[in-house]
Amino acid sequence: MTTPKKLFIKTYGCQMNVYDSERMAEALGGKGYVPTDRPEEADMILLNTCHIREKAAEKVYSELGRFKGLKAERPDLKIGVAGCVAQAEGEEIMRRQPLVDLVVGPQSYHRLPELEERARTGEKALDTDFPEEDKFDVLKDRPKAQRGPTAFLTVQEGCDKFCAFCVVPYTRGAEVSRPVDRVLAEARDLVDRGVREITLLGQNVNAYHGVGPDGGDWSLARLIWALNDVDGLERIRFTTSHPNDMTDDLIEAHGQCEKLMPYLHLPVQSGSDRILKRMNRSHTAESYLRLVERIRAARPDILMSGDFIVGFPEETEEDFQATLDLIEEVKYGYAYSFKYSPRPGTPAAERAQVPADVADERLQRLQALITRQQREAQEAMVGREVGVLFERPGRKPGQMVGKSDHLHAVHVEAEGIRPGDLARVRIVASGANSLAGEIIG
Ligand code: SAH
Ligand code: SF4
Ligand code: F3S
Repeated sequence: MTTPKKLFIKTYGCQMNVYDSERMAEALGGKGYVPTDRPEEADMILLNTCHIREKAAEKVYSELGRFKGLKAERPDLKIGVAGCVAQAEGEEIMRRQPLVDLVVGPQSYHRLPELEERARTGEKALDTDFPEEDKFDVLKDRPKAQRGPTAFLTVQEGCDKFCAFCVVPYTRGAEVSRPVDRVLAEARDLVDRGVREITLLGQNVNAYHGVGPDGGDWSLARLIWALNDVDGLERIRFTTSHPNDMTDDLIEAHGQCEKLMPYLHLPVQSGSDRILKRMNRSHTAESYLRLVERIRAARPDILMSGDFIVGFPEETEEDFQATLDLIEEVKYGYAYSFKYSPRPGTPAAERAQVPADVADERLQRLQALITRQQREAQEAMVGREVGVLFERPGRKPGQMVGKSDHLHAVHVEAEGIRPGDLARVRIVASGANSLAGEIIG
């Protein structure tokens, strides 16, 4: 028997990249590669990259530089760049960093085996097409290895929204939804392999419009209801959503669909209508607030999370204050906040920039507010009963850690609990980034 080749993948960016990395490992599994978490023993290193902010993109070049020594020691080592930086600047990567053998864009992962072969012959292999065929279909014969209790499942890719700051429509292309039967087949397969919670992914997941088994156009809500009937699947989540695609049936599902968890990531970016307009977001602060009201009317305990950009071009102190006001009104349980980063080729990059020190200071103020809200949301859980899906042992002996329905990390000290167990837990304390609980009964 030949010794298997080893594949090291490092993943940056969003959850869709995490999902893609799994699928790339499977694609190369067919060529005899097994995963390793040690780059120094790898026969192939793949960086699955993110282009969303400048820092993310620059990391790729510094990381590649670190592999120089490895490549000098072992000329057979192949180095590849995948993901959104590959898509955006594949040819530049090849030019700037000669040790790169292979570049593959996010829509071409099913062609990895062939690209690997080309790289093995010494060719510089580059594929950043947007091919017609579905990269996931080609990879449908995935190996049947056992999995942990939670998994991602990409159902939608790409974005047609063109927010003025964002590279995603360029790196991931136009919106495409996978057919319902493929999604259901993949979900059942994951459940057979031990998965109990699935997070449906898409850059605009609630814009999902997949072809149903009836030939009709299915919404995300309808897909979720179909997943609700999959035996053995206990929990459903989805991310990321755009406010304009929060349809009535999806809001209703949050109120009525038993397996759909009470957590919603709904980025708003800014609370200033002037800035929202300049961002090309096509919603207002007010329409967002009314939407959150309707969602909370359907599911009162839902935990809201969001994304915010501070220091967007032309943002004044007054605009920023409007963002803080919106946050005060929504009361988020969790949030991601970023300093605006000008991205080449996007409209906002050409506009008058906010000075870095002003943006830094605003980011700090916003983060202080979010941290306070996060703590309050956690403290509000104390005394309540929640479901917890356990994932792994905690740091202390006898401790198990899992996620609550509201996606809080919860640890308990209890005998006989295993990863994959779902239990009712009473929350007894709130710590910095997690809750402590006791198993009920
Ligand atoms: N599709 C998702 C998320 C896309 S990227 C959505 O529309 O919500 C994730 C987050 O990164 C965005 O929500 C935004 O807050 C942030 N982001 C995107 N481009 C950015 C940029 N140029 N500078 C700073 N933050 C950015
Ligand atoms: Fe980017 Fe806007 Fe599309 Fe989200 S909706 S991926 S922020 S362009
Ligand atoms: Fe980054 Fe691409 Fe995701 S730019 S956030 S990896 S879609």
